[in-house]
Amino acid sequence: MITVGIESTAHTFGVGIVEDEEVVINQKSMYRPEKGGIHPGKASEHHYANAVNTLKNALNSSNVDKEEIDSIAFSQGPGIPQCLQIGGVTARSLSEALNIPLVGVNHCVSHIEIGKKETGVRDPVTLYVAGGNSQVIGAAGGRYRVFGETLDIAIGNAIDKVARKIGIPHPGGPELEKLAEKGEKFIELPYVVKGMDFSYSGLVTKVQRLLEKHNKEDICYSFQEHAFAMLVEATERAMAHTGKKEVLITGGVAANKRLNQMMETMAEERGATSAKSPLKYCMDNGAMIAYTGQKMLENGLKTDLKESGIRPGWRTEQVNIPWL
Ligand code: ATP
Ligand code: FE2
Repeated sequence: MITVGIESTAHTFGVGIVEDEEVVINQKSMYRPEKGGIHPGKASEHHYANAVNTLKNALNSSNVDKEEIDSIAFSQGPGIPQCLQIGGVTARSLSEALNIPLVGVNHCVSHIEIGKKETGVRDPVTLYVAGGNSQVIGAAGGRYRVFGETLDIAIGNAIDKVARKIGIPHPGGPELEKLAEKGEKFIELPYVVKGMDFSYSGLVTKVQRLLEKHNKEDICYSFQEHAFAMLVEATERAMAHTGKKEVLITGGVAANKRLNQMMETMAEERGATSAKSPLKYCMDNGAMIAYTGQKMLENGLKTDLKESGIRPGWRTEQVNIPWL
């Protein structure tokens, strides 16, 4: 079976093609804000302008003829409504024009599924850390349950806010990580974990203020140590409660070496393992949507046209996963 997957939840318009659960092609066009964070209108204009070409290029580079496509998967949510609309319209049009099934995929679930496929972990506690989401997730009773999550902003967003204050353009994670590696002094900062939930807005405000007093390397170092320790603590608690022995880190922030190092140390101490999803699948992409969509179709799930509207607030635990 050949499935085309379309991703458009935020800054990326991605097209992936999967044949019999193997990725054939994964292409994307990314909106990069000139300054500040993601502007929903501008991001959707970008998707509108690039949707057709990204799709055509993906099909051309894969040598897949449009007559060979068996199904269309798209990111139905969660995400920025204006952005989701472009992916939704593209997918619906293709499905109608080619007369093939359509399946709406949950973006967060697809990050987990492609991560499991690529790393070989089977039943992990997943730490999904990105620009718009920060969740500690584990499978229970046929669904991915959210055990813990941020009470305010996502870790990626927190990192980008601190980075912007320093003058690093969006997305600030990689540059902030380099500064942190040069930091030497540990500065005590707010640390907020409540059960398996955590919070970043107080930490960000404090860090932004302290930038006037301390050098940015020490600030970035201390900020990362606090922010990541919260994530590791919440993940460890989820492992202790569920008895799971694997961690999977995914989402854009999974690229961070220090976060992975801290997670590995925690896992080792518990006799568990920690795996990181490959970077190309940590960032938003169409392949993870195609892959997850194909699994859904193989399990008898598809989305009728009248139910294919976008779902901007769609939560991970609302999705029934028959293969769990
Ligand atoms: P979501 O998946 O929640 O919709 P998103 O698509 O905006 O969010 P991603 O593209 O998965 O998010 O990740 C982008 C985030 O990852 C940005 O906030 C960016 O700063 C962060 N990031 C990227 N590289 C690093 C790094 N090396 N260290 C820390 N953060 C990083
Ligand atoms: Fe994402």
